[in-house]
Amino acid sequence: MSIDVALSNSQKRQCFNLLRKLSPWRKGPFRLGGIDIDTEWRSDWKWQRVAPHLAPLKYRKVLDVGGGSGYHAWRMAGEGAAFVLVIDPSPRFYWQFQAVRHFVGDADGGRTQFLPVGIEDVPEKLGFFDTVFSMGVLYHRPSPLEHLQQLKEALAPGGELILETLVVEGDEQTVFVPGERYAAMPNVYFLPSSKALCHWLERCGFSNVRVVDEAVTTLDEQRSTDWMTYQSLADFLDPDDPTLTVEGYPAPRRAVIIANRA
Ligand SMILES: C[S@@+](CC[C@H](N)C(=O)[O-])C[C@H]1O[C@@H](n2cnc3c(N)ncnc32)[C@H](O)[C@@H]1O
Repeated sequence: MSIDVALSNSQKRQCFNLLRKLSPWRKGPFRLGGIDIDTEWRSDWKWQRVAPHLAPLKYRKVLDVGGGSGYHAWRMAGEGAAFVLVIDPSPRFYWQFQAVRHFVGDADGGRTQFLPVGIEDVPEKLGFFDTVFSMGVLYHRPSPLEHLQQLKEALAPGGELILETLVVEGDEQTVFVPGERYAAMPNVYFLPSSKALCHWLERCGFSNVRVVDEAVTTLDEQRSTDWMTYQSLADFLDPDDPTLTVEGYPAPRRAVIIANRA
């Protein structure tokens, strides 16, 4: 995402230093006033996998649950959504969003907003949003079916859910529950197969459930950079067999599933 703002050399230096203070930058990339923020994740690649399959976002009210720094939200607003709300409890992501907002100004007419709250803070049975995204969140939830119900309740009838999450290979009954860590992450609970996830969605009352993408995460998509200097995917895979994590589990594989609230 690129915002062209003319900055003097000293303004650019100041902005660079301030933006650096908000590191680690995980979701992006951004180019703000000529400053390139090379984030850990190529979130633009995820967007390229998701975007072609969406009901057009123009004029839709959109919720991005666990939307991180807001990278995808700006892309949704760019597609003409009437309103995009990011919810994410991470203070760092909130301030990264606000830093980007500083450069965007009112160019989006204030259509893109961020509330630093979690899915559990969304009122029950809201039935408001035309499109709800949950990307990279389900595997962090200890009760995945409850998460699916919460997403459904946030949608207006007929609305569209875009669910992106870690999956494993397998059939309708395959669900993998790792030990204390998965790819070094401590808070990973349920990794279903994409077929099992479709089954869950149907059991939760979604219709028109379909897998639109499934792929193993590459070392080019998630890696350490100058803006995220900690360990990244390469450090979390078995050095002798990159098809496995350091714990010996299948390496991260992600699916995108789309469904409608009946
Ligand atoms: C792996 S990141 C995914 C970010 C982004 N959606 C993406 O796909 O790149 C998971 C996000 O979920 C957020 N999160 C954690 N607990 C949450 C909750 N209870 N409700 C909503 N989001 C949550 C985290 O702060 C984090 O930003």
